[in-house]
Amino acid sequence: MMHYLVTGGAGFIGTHLCNYLISLGHQVSILDDMSFGDQSKIHPKAKLIIGKIEDSNLCLEVTKNIDGVFHMAAFSRSGPSFDMPEQCHESNALGTLNILQACKKNGVKRIVYSGSSTFYGNKIGVQKEGDPGDFLNFYGLTKHVGELYVQQFYRNFGLECNILRYFNVYGPGQPATGAYALVLGIFIDRFKKGERLEIHGSGEQRRDFIHVLDIVKANVVAMNSETVGEIFNIGSGVNYSIKELANFFPIENFHTERRSGDAEETLADISKAQKYLDWNPEISLEQGISQLIEE
Ligand SMILES: NC(=O)c1ccc[n+]([C@@H]2O[C@H](COP(=O)([O-])OP(=O)(O)OC[C@H]3O[C@@H](n4cnc5c(N)ncnc54)[C@H](O)[C@@H]3O)[C@@H](O)[C@H]2O)c1
Repeated sequence: MMHYLVTGGAGFIGTHLCNYLISLGHQVSILDDMSFGDQSKIHPKAKLIIGKIEDSNLCLEVTKNIDGVFHMAAFSRSGPSFDMPEQCHESNALGTLNILQACKKNGVKRIVYSGSSTFYGNKIGVQKEGDPGDFLNFYGLTKHVGELYVQQFYRNFGLECNILRYFNVYGPGQPATGAYALVLGIFIDRFKKGERLEIHGSGEQRRDFIHVLDIVKANVVAMNSETVGEIFNIGSGVNYSIKELANFFPIENFHTERRSGDAEETLADISKAQKYLDWNPEISLEQGISQLIEE
């Protein structure tokens, strides 16, 4: 049995990860400032510490006697990052640095970092880990700064790491309304309420959707893999236009203005994760959506 720290463990992906780790018999601590987390969804066996990753003393405290850290706490959305670049930087760059310093001081063996496909910006076509970055907003930029810090701690201090660049994550518990909701969550919410679906721009933008339970499994293999110090795309390897996505729902739709800072296309090349982590996505978008509609 291991004792893991999940930063951001009260969030959408974090709650699923904590549940899975506990089901495997591990001990789980969560550091979360509850800015977006939901306390009612936290597993009763998880220990919740409420606080910020910007607090370096607290980071030191919570990484004592921890075997591995899943670092998920972040200012986690692109659009709102335009209005709050400082906060975004403090959480995603400085907060990550605090966690790394604390891991180093307390001898934590490995960190798995939640990276983002926003790294690839406007790259059209399949996106590979070695492609150059293209940052459309402060979120994408600062999440990449976090990646660089993680790699630097591996190179300089031998703190083991793996970086997972998630594509568009969806599944139960995803935000459905407000500035933090992503397209699929909004579509499901509107469909259930019988409201027309709103498509930003032409709807030709394509997205690679990946189910949250596939993300959770990728985290666990990245924590235990022989391969370390690497970046892996974690997506499904197929993408759908927003129009095609809307067609999964038997309800009318309408178009509004395109949002700035949105990428044209996301599409993961997942061959590296398949080869080195022996990880494969298991839940298709069709399966995932029908489960969500039935919920
Ligand atoms: N959801 C996606 O599609 C997606 C895609 C790519 C990457 N990611 C990354 O995955 C991670 C988890 O994303 P999510 O969708 O679960 O987001 P989320 O916003 O639901 O979860 C993030 C959690 O971190 C907490 N948090 C935020 N700032 C904090 C701070 N400064 N100190 C402590 N806690 C803080 C929030 O309260 C929340 O519970 C994030 O790092 C995000 O950048 C998510």
